[in-house]
Amino acid sequence: MRIPNFKSEEGSILYKNTVGRLISPRVAQVILSRIAPYETSPTRRNVLDLGCGPGVLSLSIAAQYPQLMVTAVDSSNSMIALGQEEAAKQNLSNIDFRTMGAEKIDLEPEGYDLVLCNLAFPFFSHPFDSMREVHEVVRPGGTVFFTVPGRRTWEEFFDVTTLVLGDMAMMAKPFQSKFTQAEVLPNAMAAAGFGKLEEVRTRLPFHFESGQAVLDFFSELFHLLDYAPEDTKAEMISAIDQGHPNGFTMHYEVVLLSAQRSQMPETSPELTPSLVW
Ligand SMILES: C[S@@+](CC[C@H](N)C(=O)[O-])C[C@H]1O[C@@H](n2cnc3c(N)ncnc32)[C@H](O)[C@@H]1O
Repeated sequence: MRIPNFKSEEGSILYKNTVGRLISPRVAQVILSRIAPYETSPTRRNVLDLGCGPGVLSLSIAAQYPQLMVTAVDSSNSMIALGQEEAAKQNLSNIDFRTMGAEKIDLEPEGYDLVLCNLAFPFFSHPFDSMREVHEVVRPGGTVFFTVPGRRTWEEFFDVTTLVLGDMAMMAKPFQSKFTQAEVLPNAMAAAGFGKLEEVRTRLPFHFESGQAVLDFFSELFHLLDYAPEDTKAEMISAIDQGHPNGFTMHYEVVLLSAQRSQMPETSPELTPSLVW
């Protein structure tokens, strides 16, 4: 069982054709449904997509909202190259792709009305530092929307896996560490100085006609169960088919965290009026 390395050229193309085709566009919809209020403004609004990958979210925004100016950054050159290629194909002039890590966001301080991050936060190696960097580039009163996977993601599948494999099922849970990192998001936002934190959970259904289709899905996406013996896979398929003769539905749990940078200039505690008095 392995999670592909999305940073190489080969890996980023694999990502674009698998997770970037089947999962992240549906998760991105959760953020996209919140964008409309930001399009109407007398001045052009700036949007940053952090950890943009091949541009699943940022390209949609640039195409749908020509009045928004989108900056899309990712630490992987190959992901950025895919995004640039697609932007050129679509003739989009309101999107700028740049290779940049979330550890040092070298963009205009307070330059962004909206900062978005679709499914990338659990990959950041210094999540608290990165969130402080994000806070620097959001204008006072600006908003951030981050999506991360919730722990209930694919739980129906893991229930069957546990039934068939018992304790061995843990081996089929490569996402475990990503869930743990996703869960630090609210603390990272609060520690960076963001306020008005709001969490909304949405369960996106993924329906499959048969157990074989479920295994094919995981095998294409994450090479899940690649190394499982054939008889184990057959047992999994049979358990799904017998328990779910009308097809199997499992859910991706999207956790959407939004927060705002305060309108007030931030003062250090010793300068707040109550303490001065
Ligand atoms: C699961 S993909 C999500 C991509 C995209 N947001 C989407 O919706 O498809 C995670 C992305 O985070 C990027 N990434 C990982 N660590 C990063 C970092 N420290 N700074 C910026 N991007 C990073 C990866 O290169 C990858 O493109």
